[in-house]
Amino acid sequence: MEFPFDLGPVLGDRFCVVDQHLRPAGRRGPAHRGDLEQQLRTVIDELGKASAKAQGLPSPVTSASRMETNRHVLYILRDPEGRGAPKGAVIGFLKVGYKKLFLLDRSGAHIEAEPLCVLDFYIHESLQRHGYGRELFHHMLQSERVEPWRLAVDRPSAKLLAFLHKHYGLEDAIPQVNNFVIFEGFFSNRPVLREEAEPPWPFNLSPGRPGGSPVRGSLRPFLLRRDPDGGADPAPPPRRSSSLGRVGR
Ligand code: ACO
Repeated sequence: MEFPFDLGPVLGDRFCVVDQHLRPAGRRGPAHRGDLEQQLRTVIDELGKASAKAQGLPSPVTSASRMETNRHVLYILRDPEGRGAPKGAVIGFLKVGYKKLFLLDRSGAHIEAEPLCVLDFYIHESLQRHGYGRELFHHMLQSERVEPWRLAVDRPSAKLLAFLHKHYGLEDAIPQVNNFVIFEGFFSNRPVLREEAEPPWPFNLSPGRPGGSPVRGSLRPFLLRRDPDGGADPAPPPRRSSSLGRVGR
């Protein structure tokens, strides 16, 4: 992915890590700091748009303005040699961030945890399946000092599920009722914020319960349905194309 300006001063070398402060990598050459910041914003916005298009999302979940208002971290991978692109080229990006989530363990108990979440991930179409995604993901795991099975993944695409299976052996997902996918090993030795037999207020309110208001349709996903054998009735696998609640991704 190319831009009409030199990417070196904006992104630095191979990996660039961007947080809510949106600081360009450095100042080399004639560009003013303000110009570099604007160029970094352009890079982030264009990457976000490309990722949304690749995933069939109605709008980007990654943009410079969203980065400013969230404590997310963006790992950008670029090709400093810029083969055929003298100003350099961006290969892709990975966005992660910590989120408080109510999750279900294998027994169906609700657990409040704050895992690192994979929020957006994109490698340019012309470069997919060349190992760049793995390089970027590996760099993030090392920087964040996290093991892959400790991550929660926000509504993964089929390609990302295949990627996680291939490179990290992650396949045994623990069914959830929200958009996140977690895998076997997620809960082992994890400090949990809270463990509850039933979901927290207001998700535990049911019709007819004293003082409780009727459960609204949109809150129903938080209520576990039980089959006659007492087992949890897991939600269907996440659908990437759904337009349901993409809050804060
Ligand atoms: N179909 C199926 N599996 C795929 C595909 C594909 N088109 N592309 C990559 N994969 C998986 C496969 O397991 C593949 O191994 P294989 O070629 O032996 O089958 C493996 O990823 C390849 O690994 P890398 O080359 O390291 O991965 P890549 O550089 O392609 O990056 C990524 C993976 C980021 C998922 C990339 O394919 C991409 O950008 N896809 C489009 C956008 C997308 O779906 N992003 C994830 C959204 S969900 C989220 O961000 C939370």
